[in-house]
Amino acid sequence: MARRPLGIVMNGVTGRMGYRQHLLRSILAIRDQGGLRLADGTVLWPEPVLVGRSADKLRALADRHGLTEWTTDLNAALERSDVEIYFDAQVTSARAAAIRAAVAAGKHVYTEKPLAEDTGEAVALARLADEAGVKHGVVQDKLFLPGLRKLKRLVDGGFFGRILSVRGEFGYWVFEGDWQEAQRPSWNYRAEDGGGIILDMFAHWRYVLEDIFAPVRSVQCLGATHIPERVDENGKTYTCTADDAAYGIFELDGGIVAQINSSWTTRVFRDELVEFQVDGTEGSAVAGLRRCRVQHRAMTPKPVWNPDLPVTEKFRDQWQEVPDNADFDNGFKVQWEMFLRHVAEDAEFTWDFYAGARGVQLAELGLRSWREGRRIEIPDLGR
Ligand SMILES: NC(=O)c1ccc[n+]([C@@H]2O[C@H](COP(=O)([O-])OP(=O)(O)OC[C@H]3O[C@@H](n4cnc5c(N)ncnc54)[C@H](O)[C@@H]3O)[C@@H](O)[C@H]2O)c1
Repeated sequence: MARRPLGIVMNGVTGRMGYRQHLLRSILAIRDQGGLRLADGTVLWPEPVLVGRSADKLRALADRHGLTEWTTDLNAALERSDVEIYFDAQVTSARAAAIRAAVAAGKHVYTEKPLAEDTGEAVALARLADEAGVKHGVVQDKLFLPGLRKLKRLVDGGFFGRILSVRGEFGYWVFEGDWQEAQRPSWNYRAEDGGGIILDMFAHWRYVLEDIFAPVRSVQCLGATHIPERVDENGKTYTCTADDAAYGIFELDGGIVAQINSSWTTRVFRDELVEFQVDGTEGSAVAGLRRCRVQHRAMTPKPVWNPDLPVTEKFRDQWQEVPDNADFDNGFKVQWEMFLRHVAEDAEFTWDFYAGARGVQLAELGLRSWREGRRIEIPDLGR
């Protein structure tokens, strides 16, 4: 059986996402399973070339996983003829320049979201990649979460009737770093370093809403920097210049109203770190990362408001679990496999830089809506 090696420059692999989800759970997992079998029987074998700023960290990481190729020189890595793909999981602010270099070197590009810090730059990257004739893709991992895949299955199967509304709750408490270490990097709380929950999460909400429900037509957003000061990785106190919570309302085609709270300043009283409740004329569902529960119209109880009496019904017990009916692999890996097939055998891949740019656009307009205190319609970005 023919084995085809495929070089991938992986930049930012010392970071949280780059290491755990992309190197470990995706690329190395594909190697562990014996590579990726293509339609013609060839086995694609990803060969990562690790890139970063710290030689010590890269060397240690490569040694730990029996890898030999790493460098702190991005341009040298991009010049290699055995490299076909550039992957970026750096901090957001460093992304656009590196992608430009990769496109100039003729490499296909796959990247973490958000694609860029502003819509103009995101669209410019999409056009640049098209003009260079390279393939491009953006990580849209939430679509591959088991809970959201089951939700999408319900929508496709017509379970909801007419969908009325979507309510999303995302978030958890991120420690301030003073008496307990923060569990997210400090750049997330500095606007000047590409931080902020609106830029981070609205990039996700755009594709979640559009792929599962309908195109997003307007945004109304109130942001907040609830915690004004935090302590960084070096124990130094810094001023938070970016939003750590966002309260958004989105109007979708078909009159669907989506409300999503995104927060790093809330304590979890939910079953999962993100949950969406969808209400339709025929039924409702609550979907999280893994689970999805439904209540059909015919099974809907009739609560009566009476504050004088204690609650007698166990509302959560009135919902039914949606079965998996499939094996759900790691979502990042599933999308990597799709992008590799896109590069190697021209398989379809819809989450390109234009989709990434739409995510950046929703974040940018969310920030503007907050700044200007008004609802903003979302113009079509075109291609
Ligand atoms: N898809 C998702 O669910 C998801 C989740 C979290 C983060 N992200 C995205 O992934 C990217 C990385 O986030 P992370 O949480 O892994 O961050 P991180 O801070 O853990 O990692 C950042 C990486 O970028 C590198 N880097 C390059 N230039 C840098 C600079 N000037 N300052 C600091 N680091 C620099 C670091 O060495 C490190 O490898 C971001 O764009 C973020 O928006 C995506």
